[in-house]
Amino acid sequence: MSTQTVSTDVVEAKRITTQTLQEMKAAGVPIAMLTAYDYTSARILDEAGIDVLLVGDSASNVMAGHETTLPITLEHMIYHAQCVVRAVHRSLVIVDLPFGSFQSNPRRALQSAIRVMKESGAHGVKLEGGMDIIPSVERIISAGIPVMGHLGLTPQSIYRFGTYKVRAREEDEAVTLAQDALKLEQAGCFAIVLEKIPRELADRVTSSLSIPTIGIGAGTACDGQVLVTHDALGLTTDFNPRFVRHYAKLADVMTQAVQAYVADVRSGAFPSDSESYS
Ligand code: KIV
Repeated sequence: MSTQTVSTDVVEAKRITTQTLQEMKAAGVPIAMLTAYDYTSARILDEAGIDVLLVGDSASNVMAGHETTLPITLEHMIYHAQCVVRAVHRSLVIVDLPFGSFQSNPRRALQSAIRVMKESGAHGVKLEGGMDIIPSVERIISAGIPVMGHLGLTPQSIYRFGTYKVRAREEDEAVTLAQDALKLEQAGCFAIVLEKIPRELADRVTSSLSIPTIGIGAGTACDGQVLVTHDALGLTTDFNPRFVRHYAKLADVMTQAVQAYVADVRSGAFPSDSESYS
């Protein structure tokens, strides 16, 4: 995608909608998306200009400390979404339907999506998967709920993949992924996340679609980028795949601040007179 002559008018939008994202793709303005799970962080991210906040099921990893995204429940996701929605004025808030809340049948998928929308006030849902979930995607969209797709390395399928390696390097998997992307677009998805796939494939898929693609480990050709906020801000220190760029080292900042606090408490330097009441 060329970013040479982009118009920034579309990102001045008071409120980002699925329509705004479509306009951003058309205008060649890259979409910036990050994850959020709590009120305080969501407020900072929203005010800093993030277009889309994803209440990702990566909350299972970075908030709850699980090894995979599989354990997180619909109730947990709704709780995190409620916290994020309360903070947001401009960003579009999308919530992951967690593992087990949509795979069994389209009716169950719709019920889960309705619960997310009704109980959290979020603006749409994201579902991992291709061809198999098309009936569920159609059912949810027919109820008026915007759906974001997610293809490539879909972490809810980690036990089927058996590895977190790059997906779709082989031509048959690449062809299936490209077909799935078209089917998700035809089913009515407003955008698709492409996770950890070769950049040439992301380019091919992005040019074949009229809806935006949002990449994570999928190169620069996507219409937008997403990272897990804890990775981008350097809060996670033990997860360093090639696609993560650390925009800060918050783990170091926090460690130093906490060590200073401990030292002040031990020495009696905190609280001072001016931090006490008479
Ligand atoms: O759950 C999540 O954080 C995600 C992103 C990695 C796209 O799905």
